[in-house]
Amino acid sequence: MQIAAAPAHLAQPRHLATPPAPNAVRAAHHPGLARAGALSAAGVFFSALSRRRKLAARRAEGEQVVTPWEVEAGEDGVDYDKLIETFGCQPITSEQIERIERLTGKRPHRFLRRGLFFSHRDLDELLNAYEKGEAFYIYTGRGPSSESLHLGHLVPFLFTKWLQEAFDVPLVIELTDDEKFLFKKDLTIEESRRLAWENAKDIIACGFDPKKTFIFRDSDYIQQLYPVTLQIQKRISLRTAQNTFGFDPADNIGKVAFAAVQASPAFSIAFPDFLEPGRRCFVPQAIDQDPYFRLCRRVAEDLKWPKPACIHSKFLPALQGHQTKMSASVASTALYMTDTEKKLRKKINKHAFSGGGKTEEEQREHGANLDVDVSYQYLKIWLEDDEELERIGEDYAAGKLLTGEVKKRLGDVVSEIVREHQEARARIEDATVERFMDPAREELRSSFAKKLATEAA
Ligand code: TRP
Repeated sequence: MQIAAAPAHLAQPRHLATPPAPNAVRAAHHPGLARAGALSAAGVFFSALSRRRKLAARRAEGEQVVTPWEVEAGEDGVDYDKLIETFGCQPITSEQIERIERLTGKRPHRFLRRGLFFSHRDLDELLNAYEKGEAFYIYTGRGPSSESLHLGHLVPFLFTKWLQEAFDVPLVIELTDDEKFLFKKDLTIEESRRLAWENAKDIIACGFDPKKTFIFRDSDYIQQLYPVTLQIQKRISLRTAQNTFGFDPADNIGKVAFAAVQASPAFSIAFPDFLEPGRRCFVPQAIDQDPYFRLCRRVAEDLKWPKPACIHSKFLPALQGHQTKMSASVASTALYMTDTEKKLRKKINKHAFSGGGKTEEEQREHGANLDVDVSYQYLKIWLEDDEELERIGEDYAAGKLLTGEVKKRLGDVVSEIVREHQEARARIEDATVERFMDPAREELRSSFAKKLATEAA
């Protein structure tokens, strides 16, 4: 377990230089953790007018609300241009997509070609460095809030897998069992850890390369994260956290501190087993996670650590329409990775909002509004064939295709994706999860060392 000498600006706290326990993965959780959820923040520390109330006021005025915990759009769906503006990110341009194609020699993933990933921070800086031969690593994550994932949950992971292959870089995946424990009233730590473990199987089933991928539960890996987390915690004031996330005075203090936990894996010193200090980080995420990384980047600047670059996706709309996103907790809005083909088709037929005419005659005469038609919007995300998508779009908008026919095609496409996922997941054993969750594996270190050697050559 060697730790490379850190450049002066990344000087580590002395206790980080002590090799971490060899296999933290199997470390039992600390009983003290169980008490953390019972603490609640002293309201006196917070400003009088809670941000939550301000959010409520905005909502009452019909404005959109997008936070890591809540997505509520106006009548016309989420206004993503406005989000870019209020969050202060940048739209992804076609030049950048072409540049990614040039640099990787790979056809951009359809999520990128079709604008599902639409926004970024510092993408050019990342690509500039990559072009000069500087490798980065990818960091993404999942909050294990439910047993079965839905189609929307797969979006960041499928895209991350493409990025990992295209750029050939290491990947770390954080499972925030701590976050879900703190934010969900009735969830126990044991259950949250179990869900994280089960979710890891779904993630692995997306096809990640074990030689280049480390998956961890926060409650296991916190010992290695902690020195980094502490540095971050010390540089985020209560005021900043509250302004960024809109905490309520009655919220537990674990929620406030968690922001620093999610920021920690964005710094390579959190992975001394297989990453050298100072390596750049790239974070694919749904746009609702941006507040975490806005904070994280600010702290990075303070600490003179490399600022993580980000790429943001839109949300998968709910079956009922794009006013809200697909939600695991509202069963009728979501297509689950555990659904049978029959169930998937039934849900699509019954719930998928139609932008087509009310009757066959109306549809033949006026055609469909593709922008609000959920079946078409889903095909745009899940149908790989560009020509077929274009044909369906033209015919449906012109009234040559009926909603039922488009739904039928969507049913075919989604059923195949779900069936393949179910088959892949069934093959994942606990031993495979253990392998992915071991940070001290020789294969992780060596596939990375090889890369270093070729770079030096
Ligand atoms: N908080 C995220 C969620 O609830 C999980 C997460 C942790 C994450 N780290 C991340 C998501 C990094 C994107 C990027 O789903």
